Amino acid sequence: MQPHKDQEASLHRARSVGALVVLLLGAPGAGKGTQAKRLAAHLGLPHISTGDLFRENLSRSTPLGLRAKGYMERGELVPDGLVIEMLESRVSAADCRGGYLLDGFPRTLPQAQALAKSLEAAGLSAGVPPRLAVIDIEVPDGLIVRRASGRLVCAACGHIQHKEFDPPKQAGRCDRCGGALQSRADDQPEVVTKRLEVYHRQTAPLVQHYRAAGLLDAIDGQGNPGQVFDRLLQTLHNRGVQGGRA
Ligand code: AP5
Ligand code: MG
Repeated sequence: MQPHKDQEASLHRARSVGALVVLLLGAPGAGKGTQAKRLAAHLGLPHISTGDLFRENLSRSTPLGLRAKGYMERGELVPDGLVIEMLESRVSAADCRGGYLLDGFPRTLPQAQALAKSLEAAGLSAGVPPRLAVIDIEVPDGLIVRRASGRLVCAACGHIQHKEFDPPKQAGRCDRCGGALQSRADDQPEVVTKRLEVYHRQTAPLVQHYRAAGLLDAIDGQGNPGQVFDRLLQTLHNRGVQGGRA
């Protein structure tokens, strides 16, 4: 579909059924990115990963990317002010009027509060409040470290593979486009351990926050990606969200 057609479809949805906003929560390496790519395509929503946005900024050496760099390298969270500003700018784009899928945001209570305000404002301007569905992908810490430390990402198309769980057919080359597969700079074991500790301290409390609001379902993130995706779809289906959504 042409970009302007996507935007028209997105606006039409927002005005008729209300926007749909899906959040994927889960520890680093839980499979948020792997599932988000499939789910966004299935639901016809833009996929927004704050980690990917920072990495794109970093690869272009923008002021935002350079400010985020040290935090990401140390496995710490980028300060809320920077993340919220970047996210608000992205979701105000026309393709997000019908909703969007968030991967890696929010990660703190102030980020969740900023998102709630932004959704309230979007609902007032569209005349229909957006629907929010939150899915927590649960994976035990031991498996997280194996998943993150074996991750390979295509430098050309962003496709995600794994040295052990989804090995490339040709060494070092993406199965999808043939581009170069790379490890992520923050996937060294000591940085993964730090990211996991930060997750438990700063992000895991959001699970209780959204559960108390009646918005959250948890799914088992173990098994192969297809099995996890089936659980995701079933969970959304139980909440009345269908593929194509309309
Ligand atoms: P971000 O890029 O969001 O990293 P993360 O949360 O640490 O999550 P990952 O991308 O590492 O894991 P994932 O859950 O997407 O797993 P994936 O699908 O790739 O953030 C990076 C940094 O940016 C942060 O540390 C922070 O500094 C900053 N940042 C970003 N957002 C921020 C925010 N909101 N606030 C503050 N700072 C922020 O899968 C991992 C591997 O496992 C892959 O190799 C995959 O092939 C494999 N795999 C996936 N599913 C399966 C399966 N079912 N079976 C077998 N293997 C699988
Ligand atoms: Mg990711």
